[in-house]
Amino acid sequence: MTETGSRLSGLECRACCTTTDADSVHGTCPTCGHALFAAYTTRDMDGRSWLAHLTDRPATLWRYAELLPLRRTSSIASLGEGVTPIVRLGEAPGSPGITLLAKDDGGLPTGSFKARGMAVAVSRARELGLTDLFVPSAGNAGVALAAYAARAGLRARIYLPERTPKPMVEHASTYGAEVFRTPGTIKEVGETARSRETARGAFDMSTLREPYRLEGKKTMGFEIFEQSRALGAVPDAIVYPTGGGTGLVGMGKAFDELAALGLIERRPRLIAVQPEGCAPVVRAIREEAPRVVPWADPRTIAPGLLVPAPFASERILEAVRSSRGTGATVTDRSIVAAMRSLAVRHGLFVSPEAAAPYAALPELRARSAIRSGETVLLYLTGSGLPFSIEELETSVADRVSG
Ligand SMILES: Cc1ncc(COP(=O)(O)O)c(C=O)c1O
Ligand SMILES: [Zn+2]
Repeated sequence: MTETGSRLSGLECRACCTTTDADSVHGTCPTCGHALFAAYTTRDMDGRSWLAHLTDRPATLWRYAELLPLRRTSSIASLGEGVTPIVRLGEAPGSPGITLLAKDDGGLPTGSFKARGMAVAVSRARELGLTDLFVPSAGNAGVALAAYAARAGLRARIYLPERTPKPMVEHASTYGAEVFRTPGTIKEVGETARSRETARGAFDMSTLREPYRLEGKKTMGFEIFEQSRALGAVPDAIVYPTGGGTGLVGMGKAFDELAALGLIERRPRLIAVQPEGCAPVVRAIREEAPRVVPWADPRTIAPGLLVPAPFASERILEAVRSSRGTGATVTDRSIVAAMRSLAVRHGLFVSPEAAAPYAALPELRARSAIRSGETVLLYLTGSGLPFSIEELETSVADRVSG
């Protein structure tokens, strides 16, 4: 048993079934280049007593230590991340009988759910002796890496698309990281970053190209499960704004691990929401395709959802399908209207990405993808603070009239 109680046993590739040692540095699968997933030995673990003891632990994501990869407490670089609130929103507008909940990750360090993944991945990078990290990012992941690298005493270089909102660029620089703005969407920015950084020996912290950010994201599912005990039951569906898809894969992994411990029988359906102008995952769900085909000419006002070709898309589709979930698209205009409604009706100022699930409710209701009598949880992935709703309203209005 390790000091933290972590039961990490190795890294597994779900594409070629190779198993790799977890205590040396790995990015993707050494055999086939697909994503690696942390595996844990839980056969001899008593799920019920683990669950009962969680409440005695601090209210951070580190309470799930047995199912996280950190071996030593001293490796943990924490800013007090998690547990975030679930807010009751009452009945969905225009959808009587549907109870809406919202899990709000906007209050996490650096203002988004990306803190979860980076807290765990940066801590594990430090534990494994890495010193130089880089990430291509739409904004939030870069800011989170910058903060956690500062906390851990590691160097970080952040690559952001040229059009990233200025407050996010400044926010990332504030922590002392080197920040580069390069042309294109996250796809091209990723190519530039990898071509520059790999030669320098820096480690790629891109989503699903290293195994441990997913472990941090997994805590979204653990928290929903744990908090649901107070709410009476796990939600029937979780509606999630999907870009790179790690949130969906992470929550799917959390529910798999809880099921293996005998703790969960009925899983929430995972519903992926994407903007109409960049919806490669939703298109693949609709077409029942095995993987995502890159989206040509991607556009949206939601920076984190501008991901035309998510890595490991097979795993995203697997997470949605195995939960009996589905996908929906929303217009940029409806995203901005949802930002306004969440602020005015509920006091929640969220980012465009985080507003997308709320915008998707009418379509989901019309298709009976969510039904009367059900409880539906909207995942609010980020704070609205780097954004101006007024500017976004003007930009979508200009686009319609222009
Ligand atoms: C606020 C916000 N929501 C959602 C996403 C997309 O998340 P995922 O990669 O889990 O699909 C991002 C990604 O940048 C984001 O910043
Ligand atoms: Zn493999």
